[in-house]
Amino acid sequence: MIKKGIILAGGHGTRMSPLTKAVNKQLLPIYDKPLIYYPLSILMLAGIKDILIIVNKGQLNQFRKILSNGQRFGIKISYIEQNYPRGLPDAFILGEKFIGKDNVALILGDNFFYGQSLTTKLKNCRKIKSGCKILLHPVKKPELYGVAELKKGKKVHSLKEKPKSSKSNLAVTGLYFFDNKVVNYSKSLKPSKRKELEIIDVLEKYRRNNKLTAEFLGRGGAWLDTGSIDDYYSTSSFVSALENRQGLKVACLEEIALNYNWINKKLIRDSIQFYGNCIYSQYLKKLIQ
Ligand code: G1P
Repeated sequence: MIKKGIILAGGHGTRMSPLTKAVNKQLLPIYDKPLIYYPLSILMLAGIKDILIIVNKGQLNQFRKILSNGQRFGIKISYIEQNYPRGLPDAFILGEKFIGKDNVALILGDNFFYGQSLTTKLKNCRKIKSGCKILLHPVKKPELYGVAELKKGKKVHSLKEKPKSSKSNLAVTGLYFFDNKVVNYSKSLKPSKRKELEIIDVLEKYRRNNKLTAEFLGRGGAWLDTGSIDDYYSTSSFVSALENRQGLKVACLEEIALNYNWINKKLIRDSIQFYGNCIYSQYLKKLIQ
C-alpha cells in the first residue's frame, strides 16, 4: 500500500507568463480554488496522507500560506525547494529522504483529473507492492505528451516522449505509482536532448523488467490540461459548469478529509475562519450543519 505521495509543483510556467512571473502556476485559480488543490485532492482521494510538495526556490511561503502543514486537511504536508527544474524524475532524487524505504505516488502539480469511479481506481493503483502503474487516457494531440502503445489489453509495448507521429492516441497522464526502485532508477538517468531527466526513461526501465502496468481513466473520465492560458480557462469552465450545476465542489480538500474521517467539525470551523467570508466557506458551513 502506497502511503506517500509527491506533488511536483516547480517549473517556471513560461507559457503562461506574465501570469506566472510573480506567482507559481499551481497557485493560480482553477475557477474557485488554486490549481494545487486539484492534484492534492487526487492523492487524498487515493488515501495518501503523507505528502511532499516540491516547489521553486523562493516560492515556499506562497504554498505554506495556503496549505500550511496540511493539518487543516488531516494530512501531513512537507516541502522541498528545487533550485531549477531538472525534469520529473528529480522529484525522486530530491525526495529520497522523504521516500525512505517506501513506495511512492507522483502527481504533476498541473494535472487535473475527474471522473466517475476515479476514487476506486486510485485506491486500487495505490495497492501496488512492486513495479510501476501508470494511468493512460486518449488525447487528440498525443504529440504533446508521453505516449504508450499497447499490446494485448493492458501490456505496454512501447513508450515515447512527445513522438512526432504515433499509432497510439494514449497519453501517459501525470499520475504515477512506483515501488521504491524509482529512487535508484532516477539517480541512474542521464539528461535527455532537452537537458532534462525524463520520466519516460524511468517508466522504460520498469517496462523492460516487465514491471509496468497500465490503468485507464476510462471514457467517462476527464484528464484536462492546464498547460496554456486557453487550457487553463477551459479547465476552469469545466469546474464551474460542474459545481454550479450540482452545487457540489470538485477538490474541496476539507470535504474529502471529513468524508474519510481524517478531520472533525472543529477543524472545518478553523478552515472557515482561515478562508474568511467567501463562497468556499459557505460551502464548508453547509457540510457541518
Ligand atoms: C510530462 C511528461 C509526459 C506526460 C505529461 C503529462 O510532460 O514528460 O510524459 O505525458 O507530463 O502531463 P511535460 O509536462 O514535461 O511536457
